Amino acid sequence: MNIADTLADKAYKKVIIYYFSGTGNSRNVAKWMASVSQQYQIECLPVNIAQIDRKTMTAPEPGTLIIFLSPIHGFNYPPIMLNFILRFPKGKNKVVLMNTRAGMLIGKFITPGLTGIAFYLSALVLFLKGFSIKAILAVDMPSNWISVHPGLNNRTVKFLHVKNKERVEKFAHKIMQGKSHFKHLIEVYDILLAPIAVAYYLAGRFFLAKTYFASADCDNCGLCIKACPVKAIIKVDNRPFWTFNCESCMKCMSNCPRKAIETGHGYSVAGVHVFFSVILVLFYKYFNVWFFPIENALLRMVIESGLSIAFIGVWYRLVHWLLQFKILERLTVYTSLTKYKWWGRRYKALKPDFNNS
Ligand SMILES: Cc1cc2nc3c(=O)[nH]c(=O)nc-3n(C[C@H](O)[C@H](O)[C@H](O)COP(=O)(O)O)c2cc1C
Ligand code: SF4
Ligand code: SF4
Repeated sequence: MNIADTLADKAYKKVIIYYFSGTGNSRNVAKWMASVSQQYQIECLPVNIAQIDRKTMTAPEPGTLIIFLSPIHGFNYPPIMLNFILRFPKGKNKVVLMNTRAGMLIGKFITPGLTGIAFYLSALVLFLKGFSIKAILAVDMPSNWISVHPGLNNRTVKFLHVKNKERVEKFAHKIMQGKSHFKHLIEVYDILLAPIAVAYYLAGRFFLAKTYFASADCDNCGLCIKACPVKAIIKVDNRPFWTFNCESCMKCMSNCPRKAIETGHGYSVAGVHVFFSVILVLFYKYFNVWFFPIENALLRMVIESGLSIAFIGVWYRLVHWLLQFKILERLTVYTSLTKYKWWGRRYKALKPDFNNS
């Protein structure tokens, strides 16, 4: 398309992209969108929501296209983006919803990640605030969830980067010309993931927040504490300590210069075991004697979730204390899959302008 056609086709004067990114995938997508908007001479402002005051936002100017873009965490947008959308001022603007999610590669086939309820929930909230949803797009970038699967190799990362760049640029041209795009709605099975998304939001994310620890390789440089987008790491006993505020965005793990941050698979499994075979058993044994039997399934679920979160907090504090003993520290490190070469590659997105040619 030549430049005159491009300018004639432009549908907006201004675009604001509100994005969140842990390891750089969503940041890259924001940059790709912005670079296409420049071709249309549309003013484009990518805004990293972790770096702004999210409590005092002003309503967007009429006519501005608003894009919300974030990774998927637990089949939904992560809490930082969900809360941002919930607090976003009312308006009548057109809105595009985007996410990046876990892409993998089988041969030359990119397997799609799972968006879950992110689009449905956010579209509903924004619709009730007066906005109209113009397009949605899920982008299958390299998965950064190295707590649950081995890190992807360089070939896969490069392949996914290049393919997704082309795809996002094609989508961006459509958007800048004011067209709609709702192909993602074919993935109706996403709605079936709603119960897991809710469970992740209410309990799972708190569990994950307590799976990270700094090994003895940590030299206390403080980089992870400074760089965390939600200020979730504090110092306890003069060592990094992960609080329940952690969004599991993976930024700290991928940026630690000493590769000292691990996912504690060993102590997490031990914790689950202690909780189910000791804490819960004792709880029901004594609670039912002193008070009354809890027979309602929903009530049991709520009580058990609350108990498990409280237990995780105590368990993690205990593990953190035990880590000062060398032998226990080594045991914890060598029962962490992220320590091993075949699993433990860290993931950081390539530079947005990386080109494989
Ligand atoms: C805690 C966590 C949960 C995730 N949950 C999902 C998920 O439910 N579905 C999915 O497709 N990808 C999931 N992912 C993968 C990320 O969404 C994906 O790699 C994303 O592109 C990362 O973006 P970022 O680099 O901008 O942070 C998850 C990643 C993490 C760390
Ligand atoms: S970035 Fe790594 S080395 Fe630095 S304080 Fe954090 S865990 Fe320790
Ligand atoms: S502690 Fe690490 S994983 Fe958690 S939100 Fe901060 S940077 Fe992300």
